[in-house]
Amino acid sequence: MRSSSDIGPSGRSAYSCVLAVALLCVAPSCNDSDSDPSRPVDLVSRGAEVYKANCVVCHHPDPAREGSVGPAVAGSSRELVAARVLAREYPAGYTPKKDSMLMPAMPFLESEIDALSAFLAAAGDRGQP
Ligand code: HEC
Repeated sequence: MRSSSDIGPSGRSAYSCVLAVALLCVAPSCNDSDSDPSRPVDLVSRGAEVYKANCVVCHHPDPAREGSVGPAVAGSSRELVAARVLAREYPAGYTPKKDSMLMPAMPFLESEIDALSAFLAAAGDRGQP
């Protein structure tokens, strides 16, 4: 039979260990999820999801490469993405990479244009290998 003094001290130190971990999370570093530097990353990863869901049937999963039907689109400006995706048009004076006009307009993506162009801009910055 164990006496209660065997359990006492070790039980208490485990408790203070949990407390110490909990207190560490009060530090500012636990709380910076909505500070500025993480924002563009969120937009880029949201854009990556939207691109995967709506664009890779024709464009390459890596936007810097030529897709099965669609051309490379990495580095496309927001203006170009908005015109092509929402209205099936091109910005004034822009020379399309392909003049096939196969890509349909997808006006339901209006609220995702910022995310899409952030993703494509980031893919363009990465450059070609
Ligand atoms: C049905 C196939 C298809 C889908 C889906 C598609 N595209 Fe395209 N895209 C094309 C083709 C083909 C072109 C070349 C021009 C044309 O034929 O319309 C193109 C052209 C573009 C261009 C212009 C490239 C340039 O510089 O001339 C952009 C930007 C673009 N697509 C972005 C997107 C984005 C973003 C999505 C997803 C929201 C998407 N496309 C979905 C087929 C597609």
